[in-house]
Amino acid sequence: MAREHPEQISPTAHYTGYVWYAHGQSHDAFATRQGRWMYQALRGANVIAKAARLPTLEGMLLARHRLIDQRLTDAIEGGMVSQIVEVACGLSPRGWRFAKEYGDKITYVEADLPGMLANKRRILAELGGETEHHYTREVDAVIDDGPTSIDAICGLLDPDKGTAIITEGLVNYFDRATVQTMWGRFATALGRFPTGMYYSDLITKEGNGGPMIVGFAYLLSAFVRGKVHIHFGSNQEAENALAEAGFDAAVLDPREFAEALPNLELAGAGRVRIIEAVARR
Ligand SMILES: C[S@@+](CC[C@H](N)C(=O)[O-])C[C@H]1O[C@@H](n2cnc3c(N)ncnc32)[C@H](O)[C@@H]1O
Repeated sequence: MAREHPEQISPTAHYTGYVWYAHGQSHDAFATRQGRWMYQALRGANVIAKAARLPTLEGMLLARHRLIDQRLTDAIEGGMVSQIVEVACGLSPRGWRFAKEYGDKITYVEADLPGMLANKRRILAELGGETEHHYTREVDAVIDDGPTSIDAICGLLDPDKGTAIITEGLVNYFDRATVQTMWGRFATALGRFPTGMYYSDLITKEGNGGPMIVGFAYLLSAFVRGKVHIHFGSNQEAENALAEAGFDAAVLDPREFAEALPNLELAGAGRVRIIEAVARR
């Protein structure tokens, strides 16, 4: 199995962490020096692209983040989900925001590899510390068993409560075989709960054809100093792969949620899709 080196993809966690902060979705504790530096370095390109109505990286990142937030909120408010494991959480403020909003009505586990998790632990300590309902756990999404597997983390949760796994900014850094096996592992881990949801962003060829967009994928690849894998030609292909892994899935286009997500940058939003999947029991 080809394994990406986390040190190649983790710099983007600093950048996206800063994008959320710069757009008022976060607390300044999440804004790292590295994130600020990267944000300033890319700011000119984003401003020019925005003025020309071209997709911006910021627009894409905000769209994916906001639609996952919105679908997760619906699942919580609808009583389907009250436990969340965010795998590869990076410097995402989502866990902190949802914990603040829902308190002990939910349990939110922020999970990542040890290097990145150390940042998150420091930030949460600054913001009042971890609690029984909002805590960090080391995870390795590409292993089957052992204490840092997704199965072990889900095994510590209440089996009678609806549970969601989230990945954001992870899937397109893995090759297709790694993604397929990871999704199978997630479906199995979620199968023990009355409802098991999976949310993720996904870049497909459908949203990313044409020379402009090849450039966009290239920018992403250059940015992460590694290869971005675009595995699926269409939403249907991704849904089929998720079905094979054990999910009933829908792949959503953020532009269709523009009414619920005011001020969405449509060009950037069109470059990303959001997976909403239910694990078959
Ligand atoms: C591009 S960052 C995304 C972070 C955050 N979700 C975001 O949207 O900004 C990728 C994250 O994946 C984590 N990661 C890489 N390989 C992983 C693995 N095998 N298991 C869990 N997390 C992993 C990295 O540590 C990093 O935090």
